Parts: sequence; C-alpha cells; structure tokens
Amino acid sequence: MQQKTHYRIVTLGLKGGTGKSTTAWHLAHIFGPLHPTIIVDADNLRSCLNWQAIAEALDHPIPFQVVSETGYEDYIAEHGVPTYRILDTQASIPAQKLGEILRRPRQFYVLPLRPDVSNVAAVAALARDIRELTPEQPPHYAALITHRLAQAQVSNAEDTQAALRRAGIPVFEAMIRQTKKFSDASDAGLHVGKYGDKAAQSAWKEYQAVAAQIMEDMKS
Ligand SMILES: Nc1ncnc2c1ncn2[C@@H]1O[C@H](COP(=O)(O)OP(=O)(O)O)[C@@H](O)[C@H]1O
Ligand SMILES: [Mg+2]
Repeated sequence: MQQKTHYRIVTLGLKGGTGKSTTAWHLAHIFGPLHPTIIVDADNLRSCLNWQAIAEALDHPIPFQVVSETGYEDYIAEHGVPTYRILDTQASIPAQKLGEILRRPRQFYVLPLRPDVSNVAAVAALARDIRELTPEQPPHYAALITHRLAQAQVSNAEDTQAALRRAGIPVFEAMIRQTKKFSDASDAGLHVGKYGDKAAQSAWKEYQAVAAQIMEDMKS
C-alpha cells in the first residue's frame, strides 16, 4: 500500500486560556522539522495567525505554516495534504461545530486544562462527546495539564491528574509547567525552547514528551 500517513491533531476545550493555542504552536514546532506541518487556526482570537505574523515581522523562520480554515483549502489545492495538521479551536465551541469536528475520522484530541480539580467536570463532558461522536473506537484523546506550578502547589497538578484518571479520562503523563517564557515566546514569535533558562528548557521537553505520546497513540 502506497497510502501516506497523515496525522490530525485537534486542541479542544470549553474554557479559554487553558493553553490550546500554545499547545498547537509548540507541537507544530516539534513536527514541522520532520514533515510538512500546518496549523489551521479556527479560533476567532487568531492567536496562532498572530504569532506567525510576529515571527515573520521579526524574521524568525518557523518550520510550519499557519492558515485560516478557508486558507487551508487553498493550501491543499496548491501543496496537497500536509503530513501533520493541527487544528486549533476556540473556547466554548458551538455544539454543531464540535459535532462536525468530532465526526471526522482519525484525529487525536488534546484537551488542555489548568491544574485544578474543579476543571475536571468540563473535560469529562468533552470526553463524553468525543466517545459518543468519533468514528474510532476507542477514540484517540488525552487531557493535558498545563500551567503546572512548581514546588508547594505541585500536588494540585497531581490531584487533578488523579481525578482525571478516576473519571476514566486518558491523561498525558507529561504536564506542562507554568512559566512566563510561554507568553514571552509567543510575543516574540518563538517557542519556549529558544530560551536558555531551566524552566523554559524543561517546558520544551514536556511538549516533546506530549508529541511522542501522541505519535505512539496514533500508531494503534
Ligand atoms: N504552561 C504555561 N505557563 C504559563 N503560561 C502559559 C502556559 N500555557 C499558556 N500560557 C499563556 O496563557 C495564555 C493563554 O494561553 P493560550 O494558549 O492562548 O490559551 P487558549 O488557546 O486555550 O485560550 C497565553 O498568554 C499563554 O502564553
Ligand atoms: Mg486559543
């Protein structure tokens, strides 16, 4: 069989500010150097499109392209289907649009949340929709804890991870730490791995672990 493998990843969440766009942006930096990679920015905030514009203005080459939903059709007509397509969605996505996305085959859903047990219910609701609507059984998805605080508050992240597991929701082994370098990076059209400090380097490794877990899961 000559068919080429394509990987479709979707960031999803009911809340804003959980790290959906940051996750799309960082995964694209990891996959982009390997094979053609596209972020489809379907968020009306257009975060990834803005970050790409900053990168261009500051002359930072990025190893992928960010397009709008309509821009994606033009991209395919010109270049064909990219190996990696990361769809970045808006918070509180309308039910009809969510249903439309979830019915597409072979996608991996990343559900970022902040480390607080009270956020588990919203993720569980989304997980139910995924399980009911995706054509794959079992579906490919996992919750991703972001903004993990170091030291004293670390148990908050671990409590949240445990609560997700109790609710039967797959969760990434890696959690993404909280560091201001994430907003510094997007303000400069960069990724956190471009910064030399320990927190930024660890955060970059955490996203690499997430990318590896997605690839491992999509093999099955
Ligand atoms: N792990 C993190 N640590 C610190 N700040 C983060 C982290 N992830 C994202 N951010 C910041 O939080 C804000 C919201 O992130 P964003 O990815 O835009 O969320 P969403 O797309 O879910 O609305 C941005 O300013 C971003 O730089
Ligand atoms: Mg966003």
